[in-house]
Amino acid sequence: MPDLSGKHGLVVGVANKRSISWAIAQAAAAAGARLALTYPSERLEENVRELAAKLENPIVLPCDVASDDQIAALGAALDREFGGLDFFVHGAAFAPQADLNNPFIQTSRDGFRIALDVSAYSLVALARVVAPLMEKRGGGSILTLTYLGSQRVFTNYNVMGVAKAALEAAVRYLASELGAQNIRVNAISAGPIKTLASSGISGFSNILQVYRDRAPLRRNVELAEVADSAIFLLGPASRAITGEIVFVDAGYHVHGI
Ligand SMILES: NC(=O)c1ccc[n+]([C@@H]2O[C@H](COP(=O)([O-])OP(=O)(O)OC[C@H]3O[C@@H](n4cnc5c(N)ncnc54)[C@H](O)[C@@H]3O)[C@@H](O)[C@H]2O)c1
Repeated sequence: MPDLSGKHGLVVGVANKRSISWAIAQAAAAAGARLALTYPSERLEENVRELAAKLENPIVLPCDVASDDQIAALGAALDREFGGLDFFVHGAAFAPQADLNNPFIQTSRDGFRIALDVSAYSLVALARVVAPLMEKRGGGSILTLTYLGSQRVFTNYNVMGVAKAALEAAVRYLASELGAQNIRVNAISAGPIKTLASSGISGFSNILQVYRDRAPLRRNVELAEVADSAIFLLGPASRAITGEIVFVDAGYHVHGI
């Protein structure tokens, strides 16, 4: 059983009980960590507070990752409440629906900007705020969530694939810069899972079926399996791993034809 007792973590990206970030939060709490969860808007605040109430002594804070002011306020609140930070889970992603439905060539300038801002730049902006908090603890672990659509074309994944490519590059650049402070930066590339975000991709149930048919393990992955790998990457067992994209996808990515 991995041990995160005495550790403090930030989890950004919990929307509801099916969120990958919520599965990771539950696993981290079960491993003994104390957590801060965030909500991006008043509309989601109640959901997040209800879920957070299942954890031991959590803090719940606002953070729209497109807002520098809210990110700065989040950093200050974490410093006040936790006096430092040991890990950060980044599970925020968004693209306007039209840019997921239309052909990729029709991606709007605004849709491109929003998708890259919320889904990729936010990792950089948040890393800048959490890194000094992690330095206070002698290091830390940053983990984000990505998808194979960064490297291969998946119908309707569109601008989100471009955002994930940027996110994965950001993981490597951040890992390179923050390594000297013993801060590791990694991503999990998860297989498809039915969530609020994935329900915005039309044809998603077909993707699930193709994975079931073709992945080496001949099945889809479960939330708890992604969470288990996340706990490994957040904790000391992965202390020599950084800049890595770890596939938790039942092996799907290894196949050509
Ligand atoms: N579900 C899948 O099949 C799958 C596969 C691989 C990777 N991922 C990635 O996992 C991560 C979590 O997604 P999920 O599938 O759990 O869906 P989800 O909808 O539960 O999570 C997405 C989160 O992003 C948050 N978000 C959107 N805009 C935001 C903003 N401006 N500020 C702060 N937060 C904002 C939402 O509130 C939500 O909590 C995403 O990065 C997603 O791309 C998902």
